[in-house]
Amino acid sequence: MKSGEKAVLALIGTVLVVGVVRSQLQVKGKHDRDIPFYSTATPDVARKAMDIYHSNGCKSCHTLWTLRDMLQSVPSPMLDGIGSLRTETWLYTYLSSPDPQSILPSRLKKEYRMPSYASLPDNDRKLLAQYLASLKVKDWYLDQTKQAEYEKLTGKVYPK
Ligand code: HEC
Repeated sequence: MKSGEKAVLALIGTVLVVGVVRSQLQVKGKHDRDIPFYSTATPDVARKAMDIYHSNGCKSCHTLWTLRDMLQSVPSPMLDGIGSLRTETWLYTYLSSPDPQSILPSRLKKEYRMPSYASLPDNDRKLLAQYLASLKVKDWYLDQTKQAEYEKLTGKVYPK
């Protein structure tokens, strides 16, 4: 075999191998896209925070881990992945504010708006903020989430 032919064969071989590897990676990538949400919290924090979450009726307005009340019709933001959008400090301040709408304006009727949880025990607000901040969303989904949240909250199209 001439060295020119060898080079051509080697090239074809390389192209084939790269092609196979790439298609494998794509399959893996697609699979990886199934569930974009995860939490970095310890089971202990998660359990305590979810207890507070349930006993304060957050579930009657918000969706978290795809769970929501059957009768829920309030257009509240979904809380999955919220920790990729907000910091723990922001969440703690928001939950502690006597007027959450001064932080995040609302276009909803008063009865649908985020209530103030300023009267919750400080430790409960801290735990909730800690847990909510641990709820992350994978990068590829973040842009879509941000956009949907923005449009839901403002009623405007997300500026590109
Ligand atoms: C009466 C319905 C209602 C209840 C109950 C409620 N929320 Fe909300 N929440 C909202 C709405 C609506 C918004 C969006 C802002 C607004 O319109 O006031 C919001 C906003 C938020 C945000 C900010 C989301 C963002 O995009 O940054 C967080 C975090 C949050 N709520 C957490 C909670 C937690 C935790 C509880 C329970 C302790 C709770 N909410 C209970 C309706 C509710």
